[in-house]
Amino acid sequence: MVNVGLIGLGTVGTGVARILTGRRDLLARRLGTELVLKRAADLDPERRQAAPLEAARLTANAQDILDDPDIDIVVELIGGTTTARDLILEAVSRDRHVVTANKALLAHHGNEILAAAAQQGVEVAFEAAVCGGVPLILALRQGLAANRIQEMFGILNGTCNYILTRMSQDGMSYAQALAEAQARGYAEADPTLDVEGIDTAHKLAILVSLAYCAPLSLDPISVSGISNLDPLDLQFAREFGYAVKLLAITRNDGETIEARVHPTLIPRDHMLANVNGAFNAVYLTGDAVGPILLYGQGAGMMPTASAVVSDILDLARNLIRGVRRRVPPLGCDGALESPRNIKPLDEVVTNYYFRFAALDRPGVLSQISGILGKHDISIAAVIQKGREVKGAVPIVMITHEAKEANAKQALMEIDRLPIVSPPAVFYRIEDPHLHAAQI
Ligand code: HSE
Repeated sequence: MVNVGLIGLGTVGTGVARILTGRRDLLARRLGTELVLKRAADLDPERRQAAPLEAARLTANAQDILDDPDIDIVVELIGGTTTARDLILEAVSRDRHVVTANKALLAHHGNEILAAAAQQGVEVAFEAAVCGGVPLILALRQGLAANRIQEMFGILNGTCNYILTRMSQDGMSYAQALAEAQARGYAEADPTLDVEGIDTAHKLAILVSLAYCAPLSLDPISVSGISNLDPLDLQFAREFGYAVKLLAITRNDGETIEARVHPTLIPRDHMLANVNGAFNAVYLTGDAVGPILLYGQGAGMMPTASAVVSDILDLARNLIRGVRRRVPPLGCDGALESPRNIKPLDEVVTNYYFRFAALDRPGVLSQISGILGKHDISIAAVIQKGREVKGAVPIVMITHEAKEANAKQALMEIDRLPIVSPPAVFYRIEDPHLHAAQI
């Protein structure tokens, strides 16, 4: 028998409790022994009351779980980076294996927690931390271990993807779509983490670390979110044949590493453009395997609980066999090495979408394109919409590849022209038809 203690009966915790209590036979058959949810803790009496567990197994005090000598595996699902950190470090120091879905905690304190676990010789598993129910961590730690990962493009936040899908397919406002995503239980307790791209960055930090055998770090990642996206730009992007997705991007060209999170235009015929709603996907290229697509539900009660329980089973199997840390948490038994050459965002070369609000006068386009030309930015396509109120019209451009620093400098100069109303809008494009790198 393997005993589990669960801390946190929120959306995911309740899903985990449902699986552990409702599928005992299936899990026992898979494991060859019984997997018991011995105790579950939550401060909130209503949550405890709603939990699918008899009252005697429920407690308001997480310490009861750490103090229970029969509990082998502690599952942390309270989120946040303070109490969760303390609880996990205590569980580790008391020789418990730990399962967590807490990407923020791993991104901020992962090195400390994994070092403590290594020293104690216990496991910390986090399959649910990235892409919910999709077994992506397992794929990177084991299935793809033979590869140098060359690039990864991830839709890693269900809330943002849900919002973008509802805005672009159903014409919903940003606020309506966000409220719906929250009601469905996709969003973090503080949705700022979702919509500002921070949750995606936490997840990208974990992926970068797994991909490149590097310590966990948010430092190399530049982040912008979707909260300022104007539906007008979703519409123009569509006219140019693009969908807009919040992408986590990392690329390793052998010399430098890019790591960034931002709304990105991708061709509408790309597989990632068809990942809709709360679904997540990662499209990555390994130098041996070539391209791989992993797709599934990245948020919500049961998909995330599915990943948490997969970790519990995995650790339970190790316990039964008397094996510890056969596969290290970041898939690397050698020394972890921080990437030395992180490419600053200003050095990144990509294609751009620009939108200017300009006066509808002769010579306007030539002034704008003159400044772009001066900064080595060549235009691939332009749309100018018909005359609008007070003569200001949107001019939308797609560029060939340009350096980010040049694009920003050019936009600053264009914003100073008396014929435009600043600020210009700009988004990055990842389009294999426009540049050589494949996505
Ligand atoms: N808030 C996250 C999302 C939950 O929307 O994807 C899963 O990490």
